[in-house]
Amino acid sequence: MRRRTFFTLAAVPALLTACGPGDLSGGPEPQAKLSFRNRLRIPPLAPSTVDKDGVRRFELTMQRGRTELLPGKPTDTYGFNGSYLGPTVRARRGETVRMVVRNELGEQSTVHWHGMRLPARMDGGPHLPIAPGATWSPQWTITQPAATSWYHPHPHGATAMHVYRGLAGLFLLDEPGGPTLPSAYGVDDVPLILQDKNLAADGSLAGDPLKGTFGILGNTVLVNGTYDPYLAVESRRVRLRILNGSNARMYDIRFADRRRFHVIANDAGLLNAPVEVDQVSLSPGERAEIVAEFAPGEQVVLRSIGGSADIDAGDLDLLKIVAAKQLKASPPLPDRLADRHIDVPAGAKVRRFKLNGHDSINGQEMDMTRIDEVVAAGAREIWEIVNNVYSHNFHIHEVAFRVLDVDGAPPPAYATGPKDTVFVPGKSTVRLAVEFGQDTDPNWPYMYHCHILRHEDSGMMGQFVVVPPGTESVVPRVLGAHAGHSM
Ligand code: C2O
Ligand code: CU
Ligand code: CU
Repeated sequence: MRRRTFFTLAAVPALLTACGPGDLSGGPEPQAKLSFRNRLRIPPLAPSTVDKDGVRRFELTMQRGRTELLPGKPTDTYGFNGSYLGPTVRARRGETVRMVVRNELGEQSTVHWHGMRLPARMDGGPHLPIAPGATWSPQWTITQPAATSWYHPHPHGATAMHVYRGLAGLFLLDEPGGPTLPSAYGVDDVPLILQDKNLAADGSLAGDPLKGTFGILGNTVLVNGTYDPYLAVESRRVRLRILNGSNARMYDIRFADRRRFHVIANDAGLLNAPVEVDQVSLSPGERAEIVAEFAPGEQVVLRSIGGSADIDAGDLDLLKIVAAKQLKASPPLPDRLADRHIDVPAGAKVRRFKLNGHDSINGQEMDMTRIDEVVAAGAREIWEIVNNVYSHNFHIHEVAFRVLDVDGAPPPAYATGPKDTVFVPGKSTVRLAVEFGQDTDPNWPYMYHCHILRHEDSGMMGQFVVVPPGTESVVPRVLGAHAGHSM
């Protein structure tokens, strides 16, 4: 079954002119200016208990509900333990966690732990469906450094709709003995989940996340599900953990007064040292942790400044920060944050991934029965992502990587930390140094894909297995319908 290609490459510029660059999905233009009337919601921290075997247990229920995304106009939404988004899970390196996930959506879904190093059977990709009414309880030991990870559904072909309706949450990883940083959750360590929606006049979620070149580029930006938000702060320095949880939109984030701030972490953990900037760009699925400074009594707006890409057009207000008249002192930002080096040895294996149109990689659409790549445990490889078309990005499960270069030039200093998702601009090549973990399983794959969910769902995704070194050539490339696999 071949899907029709919606737009040829040549048709894209014409479409941009016809509809205006801000919205390719047919809705109204994004509302650029906000009045900041609503206090920013902070997702609650997920409660946990300790099971008899000493494993820390979290419970997440996927459910339907109604949420006032726009005041007075309830919207049918999905959420974890509530009607929209999910609680923030927080665990420490060295702990074993058990996630008890119950599906009460009335339709099949999965839950993927984005940014997590774990065995493939726990990863929650499209091979691990949770039937309606069923419970899935993966468990793993956290072996990776501190990071801002997240979780979201990953059912093949329906990820875009499930995320768009509201299924997403943060998964914060702490590391004992890490640097001293603002860390009072929701106080001076504040999550910001950025998502754009196409909200109709009656408040309903409009737009088809599987239509057009990019699916949803919405008219309304929500932060933690809050429309028109402000954040009150009470200390001089505030850490913002920003997740681009949008289906397709990219954000070029800066303060309206262009004040400088520090980036302290990328997707997969801390930078070795803070990097001072006045802007960070995040494509879907990417995270950045920043530390910004405020003066007593001031107010400043965080905005997204339309960039040059086709998925970040238009200037958009995101959030107003309102500083208290008296601000508590904050500890100074450390000069050094980590000592992490993702490098590849000389002669490292190079794999090439060519992004085609909006639905395939290396000329092939995603096939759940096909293993595209076999990787040796602990490998360090160069993955080269070649994009001859419009904006895409690239996410790899299980790994951490470092961006080596974009069209031969090094990335900006703030984006040289550990990552798991990277923007791949139109007509460019991005090279990554990729660090694979030690969990092996020839029968359960991990995914790599474009995190523009319209593309991911359309087949711009591939599968790799991690196997014991030396066994790469004997691994079957076709997955049988063995127990637990649903194809
Ligand atoms: Cu956040 Cu495979 O995805
Ligand atoms: Cu992922
Ligand atoms: Cu894409």
